[in-house]
Amino acid sequence: MRFVFAALFCFAAAGYAVAADGDVKRGETLLTRHCATCHAVGRVGAGLNPQAPPFRSLGTRYPIDALEEALGEGLMTGHPDMPEFQFSAPDVGAIIAYLKSIQQR
Ligand code: HEC
Repeated sequence: MRFVFAALFCFAAAGYAVAADGDVKRGETLLTRHCATCHAVGRVGAGLNPQAPPFRSLGTRYPIDALEEALGEGLMTGHPDMPEFQFSAPDVGAIIAYLKSIQQR
């Protein structure tokens, strides 16, 4: 019996790691699709719109977690260039996971 529990636990732990990894990928896909027309989404490169900050530098302006609410409730930064976006909770999680993974220290 104890063995079964141990096995289940390992299974769950491995599943979690995979899910977290998938989130980062999915976040990247979402941002590439919706934001790459202006922002630099990856670890290198410049965005197409010189006004739009590269995503890897957002962490130097404020904690990435602060974006969580904005993304879920509709991201509006108070300037006309950027369209408003709203994402579902799982998508927000994926986007945050990705953003955290690329921040420059
Ligand atoms: C049409 C161009 C465009 C698109 C598409 C776009 N942005 Fe932006 N974004 C901008 C510009 C320009 C700024 C700089 C605004 C400023 O500093 O006034 C900006 C700023 C930001 C900021 C920083 C806001 C701040 O207050 O510092 C965040 C975060 C952001 N964008 C997230 C996103 C996300 C997430 C997406 C995709 C879901 C996205 N943007 C898509 C143009 C765009």
